[in-house]
This record gives sequence, structure tokens and C-alpha cells, in this order.
Amino acid sequence: MSATSNKIEMRKLGDSGVEVSVITFGAWAIGGWMWGGAEEKDAIEAIHASIDNGATSIDTAAVYGYGRSEEIVGKALTGKRDKVQILTKYGLRWDSKDGEHFFDWEQEGERKEIYRNARKKSIIEECENSLRRLKTDYIDLYQCHWRDHTTPVEETMEAMVELIKQGKIRAAGVSNFTSEDIETARKICPIASNQPPYSMVLRDIEKNVLPYCRENNIGTIVYSPLQRGLLTGKFSPDVQFKAGDHRANQIHFQKENIKRVNTMLDKVRPVAERHDATLGQIVIAWTIAQPGITSALVGARDAQQTIENIKAAHIKLSAADLKEIDNAIATLELVPV
Ligand SMILES: NC(=O)c1ccc[n+]([C@@H]2O[C@H](COP(=O)([O-])OP(=O)(O)OC[C@H]3O[C@@H](n4cnc5c(N)ncnc54)[C@H](OP(=O)(O)O)[C@@H]3O)[C@@H](O)[C@H]2O)c1
Repeated sequence: MSATSNKIEMRKLGDSGVEVSVITFGAWAIGGWMWGGAEEKDAIEAIHASIDNGATSIDTAAVYGYGRSEEIVGKALTGKRDKVQILTKYGLRWDSKDGEHFFDWEQEGERKEIYRNARKKSIIEECENSLRRLKTDYIDLYQCHWRDHTTPVEETMEAMVELIKQGKIRAAGVSNFTSEDIETARKICPIASNQPPYSMVLRDIEKNVLPYCRENNIGTIVYSPLQRGLLTGKFSPDVQFKAGDHRANQIHFQKENIKRVNTMLDKVRPVAERHDATLGQIVIAWTIAQPGITSALVGARDAQQTIENIKAAHIKLSAADLKEIDNAIATLELVPV
């Protein structure tokens, strides 16, 4: 492949001046936390493969592996800072009990209580820690991971205004926010983007928050577009996850739902065959073709998965392809757990 063919589309995040690649590399699984472990060598190779193949935006979070994912990203980006956009998140703390209790997680015999904490003082401290772990002096997009209901959104956004002024972050984003909370946030600080979940089998944002962001020129970077790997079609209903893999308890991974999703994917397979693509690539191409979606935030374990996923940025689905896929999705009904 020539150097120029490695370029993929970049899209603007609102008026922030930050642009992200249409496929963003998701660095959650490479930290191993909640995904049953991961190898650092594979992780670094995956990040390098992402950058080399044009997906120059990398998303992580302080909480992923309790700092480990950010450290791996920092290590992988040594000497490459000017080629990438670093997206990270704050507001989930494992090392203090202030704020709103979110959930507990036990892995490899270690139990942690995770708190939503979006207080100004905590964010300022978290930002310093993230900059150190990421080995950089600025973050391109700093996102509030989850709304902390014990802290007014205004206070959280005051921290963003200060960090932008100090040049430590280029733009403020949010994640898992409602349109009402985004509206409140924007009164204090411009919001470049929201990061919600979205996939062929999880389309809740189409009702409210996605139209709101489109109308207000706010970017939407969607996470888990492969529904955590399920939409690659590789899972059999009898899958046994490793200890510490959160997918075992998720609704989409219940036996009957894996069966139903695979039946739906069989109807998408002819589109994949016409494009000489994998199912996962068609799923990603469909995601970035949806109106209002700025970037698909795709996780990958290693370089091979990364390279496969990024090829989706070069697939142009026709209106007929999109219709065929939408018809397939419409046949799917998940069973509640
Ligand atoms: N803001 C939030 O609250 C939030 C929440 C979740 C995720 N995120 C972000 O979004 C990113 C992506 O979401 P996600 O990781 O949850 O889900 P995803 O992108 O839907 O799925 C990623 C997983 O699918 C499997 N996979 C990926 N490419 C594959 C391929 N080509 N062939 C076969 N399997 C493949 C890998 O797991 P296996 O190989 O183990 O199957 C990989 O870890 C995260 O890394 C994170 O940055 C944000």
C-alpha cells in the first residue's frame, strides 16, 4: 500500500478545531481491564498499526486498567505525538470514594469500587495524572466519562474552561450524556463532542441525543460499534468468556441473543461478499455512514484486528446496500434478560 492510500477521512468536532479520523482506535480492551487481560506487546503493535493505516485518533480513559491503558498509549506514542489526536476521559475514580458510587469490579483477586467524580478539584488532579501517563503536555479532547449526579454539570465545565485556558486540553467533550446535560454544559463551555454507545443492535441515541448533537454542530463519536465484537459474527452461542471479561453478563451475549444476532448477520453477508469485505468491516462502514456520526470508536486487541477494521473506512456502501442492511436489522428482536 502506498503512503497516500493510507489516509482516511478526517472529520471536524464542532467548532473546536479538533479533527478526528472517521475510525478512532479504542484503547479500553488493550488495557485488559474488564476484558479478561491483554498483552502489552499486542497493544503497542495495535496502536502503531492504527496510526500507520490512517486512524490517527486514539481514545482511552484514566479508569481503563486504572491508568494502564493511558500508560500503554503514552509508550506507544513516543516520537509520534504530532501525528495523532489523543482523546481521553476523566470522572471515574478507583482511588477515592468521593462522588457517586458507580459499580464494583473484581479482577485477578483485586476488588475496586468505582466512583463517578466530576468535581472541579478532582478533574484538575486527574488531568495532571493523565498528562503524565500519556507522556504529553496536551490532550486533544478531554471527555467527561459519565455524568456525576452529585456534582453540578456547571462545576465540571468550569474545570474544562480552566484547562483549555491553560493549554492542557484543546477541547472539551462529554460521554454518555443526555441532551439536557449537554445543553447545561454548553452554557459554560463549548462542547466539541458526545461519546455514546451505538451499533446496529443498540440505536437508542437516534431518538434524542443524536438529533440534538446534529442540530447543534456537536460531534458524535460512537463507542462499541461492533457491539464488543459480537457483530463480527465470530461468536457461537456457547461461547465461554475468560474470567474477568465483562461480556459474559451483557444482554447481547446471552445465548439466545447471540443466535438471533448471527441470524441477522447472515442477511448482511451478501453485502459483505459484494464488497469483498468481512462482516465487521461492513458493520463499521454502515456505522460511519449514518447521519450525524462523526467517528466510529472501534476497539481492537492486536494489529491484525486493527488493520482489518480500518479498511472499513475505504468501503462506500450504496443506498441499496444501506437499505438491505437496514432491512436485515429490522428483522432482529432481542430477548430481554
Ligand atoms: N465512553 C464509554 O463509556 C465507553 C464505553 C465502552 C467503550 N468505549 C470506547 O469505545 C471503544 C470501542 O468499544 P468496545 O471496545 O467496547 O467495543 P467494540 O469496538 O464494539 O469491540 C471491540 C472488541 O471486538 C473484538 N474485535 C475487534 N475487531 C475485531 C476483528 N476485526 N475481528 C474479530 N474481533 C474483533 C475485540 O475483542 P475480542 O477479540 O476479545 O473479541 C475488541 O476488543 C473502547 O475501546 C473505548 O475506547 C467507551
